[in-house]
Amino acid sequence: MRKKIVAGNWKMHKNAEQTEDLLNELIDKMPLETEVQVIVAPTFINLATAVDHLEFIAIDVAAQNMHQAESGAFTGEISADMLQNVGVNIVILGHSERRAIFNETDALIASKVNTALEHDMTVIFCFGEELKDRQSKNHFNVVENQLRDGLFSIQASDWSNVVLAYEPVWAIGTGETASPEQAQEMHEFIRETVRKAYGSDIAEDVSILYGGSVKPENAKEIFSKPDVDGGLIGGAALKADDFMAIVNAI
Ligand code: G3P
Repeated sequence: MRKKIVAGNWKMHKNAEQTEDLLNELIDKMPLETEVQVIVAPTFINLATAVDHLEFIAIDVAAQNMHQAESGAFTGEISADMLQNVGVNIVILGHSERRAIFNETDALIASKVNTALEHDMTVIFCFGEELKDRQSKNHFNVVENQLRDGLFSIQASDWSNVVLAYEPVWAIGTGETASPEQAQEMHEFIRETVRKAYGSDIAEDVSILYGGSVKPENAKEIFSKPDVDGGLIGGAALKADDFMAIVNAI
């Protein structure tokens, strides 16, 4: 069954004290009844705090990344077991900043996806074209290749633990949001691409989130599109009022 999801990717923001402050504000503002799955993704160092803080609150906690190895000499890295050991069972993988800044390739991301799924974690798989791809009308090819090379090695049974997050790179952090029509067009293409590879049931059931300058003022129209099942939120996730306004926009 396709879920409505709003996830906040805090990126490298909020120290321990600021994390507790924001979590307390989110707890105060969380709607009592909602069908939306709400997720927050603080930095690694604050994940355990978030899990403890949200133990009795319907807000899930995700990591922003993880290493593909079970353990080893990988200075500065975090494994799936370490995340699950503090109660984190959701992980964002393939974010465009991991791809662009930290040179994560489709093959590396595929390896991380496989490790996370082997640990029965939920993967929020990020992908999206750059402005030059869209300007050259190559954006559909780019997205299809990212799905094929970064995700389509998984088994059909794994899809119950996969959430897709389409984030056009040119819309991330720029204030330049994709129009609702652009979002719907690409989400429809993504769902069709999944259908061709894995069949209609999986294609219909997978949640496809949009990310890229989602704000309270544009969320409702974007989320109203039939193939948009929620959002992956950056900047607006750092303000409790804005993030909850986006949650309530679905
Ligand atoms: O992962 C979500 C993020 O990349 C979107 O950032 O600031 O454009 O909402 P922002």
